[in-house]
Amino acid sequence: MNQQEAALRIAYLCEELDRHNYKYYSLNQPEIDDYTFDQLMNELIALEQSFPDLLHETSPTQRVGNDINQDFKQVAHKYQMLSLSNTYTEEEVADFDQRIRKLTDENFEYVCELKFDGTSISLTYENGKLVRAVTRGDGEKGDDVTANVKTIKSIPLRLHGDYPKEFEIRGEIVLPFSVFENLNREREEIGEQPFANPRNAASGTLKLQNSSIVATRKLDAYLYHVLGNNLPEDGHYALLQHAATWGFKTSEHTRKCKSIEEIFDFLKEWNVRRKDLPVATDGVVIKIDSINLQQELGFTAKSPRWAIAYKFKAEQERTILHAVSYQVGRTGAVTPVANLEPVLLSGTVVRRATLHNSDVIANLDLHLGDTVFIEKGGEIIPKIIRVDLSERHPMSEKVDFITHCPECNTELIKQEGESAFYCPNETGCPPQLKGKLEHFIGRKSMDIDGLGSETIDLLFQNGLVQNVADLYDLSFNDLTNLDRMGEKSANRILESLETSRSVPFERVLFSLGIRFVGETVAKKLARGLKSIVKISSASLEELIAVDEIGTKIAESILNWFKELKNQNLIERLKAQHLNFEIIEQFKEGQTEKLAGLSIIVSGTFEKFSREELKNFIELHGGKNVSSISTKTDYLIAGENIGPSKLEKAEKLKIPIISEDQLIQLTE
Ligand code: IVH
Repeated sequence: MNQQEAALRIAYLCEELDRHNYKYYSLNQPEIDDYTFDQLMNELIALEQSFPDLLHETSPTQRVGNDINQDFKQVAHKYQMLSLSNTYTEEEVADFDQRIRKLTDENFEYVCELKFDGTSISLTYENGKLVRAVTRGDGEKGDDVTANVKTIKSIPLRLHGDYPKEFEIRGEIVLPFSVFENLNREREEIGEQPFANPRNAASGTLKLQNSSIVATRKLDAYLYHVLGNNLPEDGHYALLQHAATWGFKTSEHTRKCKSIEEIFDFLKEWNVRRKDLPVATDGVVIKIDSINLQQELGFTAKSPRWAIAYKFKAEQERTILHAVSYQVGRTGAVTPVANLEPVLLSGTVVRRATLHNSDVIANLDLHLGDTVFIEKGGEIIPKIIRVDLSERHPMSEKVDFITHCPECNTELIKQEGESAFYCPNETGCPPQLKGKLEHFIGRKSMDIDGLGSETIDLLFQNGLVQNVADLYDLSFNDLTNLDRMGEKSANRILESLETSRSVPFERVLFSLGIRFVGETVAKKLARGLKSIVKISSASLEELIAVDEIGTKIAESILNWFKELKNQNLIERLKAQHLNFEIIEQFKEGQTEKLAGLSIIVSGTFEKFSREELKNFIELHGGKNVSSISTKTDYLIAGENIGPSKLEKAEKLKIPIISEDQLIQLTE
């Protein structure tokens, strides 16, 4: 294929992939299956590698994120990013309508939109290309989060159709409930504090320094406000519909309303229907449709006169606090839970509410028997928001956070900078021990078929297992002597313990349940340091040198291996022949000469194709990276090297070498 043919094919593939991304992520109407999509994507990746000059920054291949540490640049907003004034009742909405009618004699219409509960973003497009994405910040200036926003599939990098040459579009970045729940499950698995609600998770994700992690989080975006000169429509509603044809995801539930009654209908309808939406909403935004009239009405210091937010009432109920109980998790973290007089709230009977930590109890100044208000907001689990002090009995007992573990009576500790109390008795506290066993047998860990939390409980109660190494000492008789355990089930457990010996090292490492060592970190550690011997003897610096391992994780690993009981555990598991190193098939010619080096390749070469060069780097232990950062060690420059790469490498003072010099490095 020559350059010209490649250019045509690349243009076609970019168009097609953009179109399918739009159909899948924005319209929810996929036309092709994932496999066909991946094939098109792989073809585009290969072509862009062979013809690097034809790689555009708006290509669908550029959505993967990179591992550059981005200290966000602050950017001034061209148009201030204001917020809306809030209303909570139909009367207040009617007042808003009256206010406007006093200010204008014109006939006008409203647009009602869902108010998405995420984090707002302003996108700038020039000549159909996304050039900048900036957070709200203080309204005057925000953080430039373009690299992170580029990973959001429902935000187009290139537009179609008759888009204006230059404009801004604003919207809300959200994290769908389903992604939020998975994310929190994973965070809890590694002992990280879960996000309180999808909004916090969305804004936390958007501010991550590493955009390749952002890319895995599946953020979504709804756009709701187009700004610029010479916009193609006079009405907001028509403009949003028009913007959808350029490739933006807009809400399909936006509706034009002619009267206040129609607005009330929309409010009533969505107060109920919002529960079926895949993302969190916290109200409705009511806007004047005519952009001319919007401009005429203008703004107050804080918000537009032409729009108002109506906030859904978070459903609240009154009930009685009977007791506070405490749960101890796998990591020893103690979570207080309020036990309530059962009460119906948004269709479910609520008996318990989360209290998060000791600070929450202290701030509420809870007393037993208090009448409390509970609310289901953006959070899934209800929480106590307020105490009705007028109902408090003068003799009622104040709730003081416990000082000792409710399970093993060990004195609790609180680490500096953390809000949770921990039970430090890792080796003797039953829920911690059982939690570790349950984590070890899980599907993503050692995947021990036939063992579940009930059997773990039984084994534990009968004194047969205390730690994960004990599982491998279980005999057929031990198992069949348990209540309700047949021979068949016992055999299944023994067989899957046997097969778990071939579980790869990275999963064994994850199974150990070291705090902050989740699936991804375990993978990076295993691949970076190759064996438990190296990991257990690594210094803080050596651990941090591994991709994506920061001080917090490194310290947790060091502390874990410092403990004698953990060293003994590893020795026992080693004796059971679990995999404690990466089993790599040695390839011919393989060396470690480029180990630890991040190398970027640009241009075309004499001796190698791009693919061969990449394989060559990997064969010698190096890492082929796709974008330049201060962490890049070499740029291998071929003919027709991309000028921007060259410039950036020079600016960052990254050594630029030829393919022959690279070969010399491996000799
Ligand atoms: S319009 C000047 N429309 O709510 C116009 N905002 O308190 C301001 N929001 O910062 C924005 N959904 O983050 C608008 N359909 C929608 C919205 C929406 C969510 C957020 C946005 C804004 C905040 C206003």
